[in-house]
Amino acid sequence: MVRTRVAGRHFLQIPGPTNVPDRVLRAIDNPTMDHRGPAFGALGTEILANLRTIFQTAGSVVVYPASGTGAWEAALVNTLSPGDTVLMCRTGWFASLWKEMAERLSLKPVFVDTDWRRGADVVALGELLAKDKAHQIKAVCVVHNETSTGCTSRIDEVRAALDAAGHPALLMVDTISSLASMDYRHDAWRVDVTVAGSQKGLMLPPGLSFNAISDKALKAAETAKLPRSYWDWRPMLEANKTGYFPYTPGTNLLYGLNEALTMLLEEGLPNVFARHDRHAEATRRAVRTWGLEIQCAEPRHYSSSLTAVRVPEGHSADALRAAILDRFNMSLGNGLGILKDRVFRIGHLGDFGDLQLVGTLGGVEMGLRAAGVPHKSGGVQAALDYLAGNA
Ligand SMILES: Cc1ncc(COP(=O)(O)O)c(C=O)c1O
Repeated sequence: MVRTRVAGRHFLQIPGPTNVPDRVLRAIDNPTMDHRGPAFGALGTEILANLRTIFQTAGSVVVYPASGTGAWEAALVNTLSPGDTVLMCRTGWFASLWKEMAERLSLKPVFVDTDWRRGADVVALGELLAKDKAHQIKAVCVVHNETSTGCTSRIDEVRAALDAAGHPALLMVDTISSLASMDYRHDAWRVDVTVAGSQKGLMLPPGLSFNAISDKALKAAETAKLPRSYWDWRPMLEANKTGYFPYTPGTNLLYGLNEALTMLLEEGLPNVFARHDRHAEATRRAVRTWGLEIQCAEPRHYSSSLTAVRVPEGHSADALRAAILDRFNMSLGNGLGILKDRVFRIGHLGDFGDLQLVGTLGGVEMGLRAAGVPHKSGGVQAALDYLAGNA
């Protein structure tokens, strides 16, 4: 379909990939260098050191030239053996995909359900862990920020549930849409493998993904029996000692990563997190003023990187998104799985400031009117009032 051009910069307000800052684009736009030459080692060493700060870990972080799905697979194949039981939490679409992957890899996932309106059920997890006296469960896998629902799981509480049960299972956490947007502490929460991707809080295009790895996970990797080759941590960690990679890295994306990490550290991680919290709160105030419902029904689990908004019964979230794209040149996230056509998702993560948020919410409010979705006006004003009063 040929669309009439709408003037002005496109608003990419899906919850990732996010808008890539010009500084990062300029960095990517450098000539590709010899990835085995002398300059590359210094670049790799700097990136790997700064990544530790972002993951809040003193341990190793590895970088794959892959989307986030690759880093999911790396987490599982490096640590587990065929037939191992893994506890997973069905918090939404992405948790379901990770579980399907575990099945395909011949693991035995036990799925702890939610209604897709809150984070992981820590009580149910704790009960299953406490019952597992034989320690058959080898890993607990949780999506920190479920991008399909805008619900966050409390990783500190999942850690506490493992500790309370005295259970030795590995803890694996997907932070693909939370890292560098929401406070996330690999070491303090004693996470064994953290999975992340480049295209959200890290403000890069898609194409890189990450595992942060605990000593316990490294030990598990010595005896894990799932087949692994490309994803094997061992040659990667060996080459990384001098800043190099065992195969051709995504050189130009690494230039961008280096710049993005510099920008995050210039802003300061606490400020990055506070900025996302503030934009999320302003968005929720707009949504409530419109009289629409936030998909996340548990305020303790609100996401700071996106807000999923339910449309009233009898209305189509996809028609609303299409109207907003056509009229205002803005992309919003669609509903996935059981939420198809029921929600639209506003991404407010990455390189994102107050004025972009106001523009985004303005586009939504005008779109609601254009698409005939019943709502009250004043959402943008509510967000403005909050932003102005909480500079
Ligand atoms: C929470 C979460 N996990 C996993 C994925 C899959 O990552 P990718 O599409 O980069 O493979 C996504 C993608 O949006 C995600 O949001």
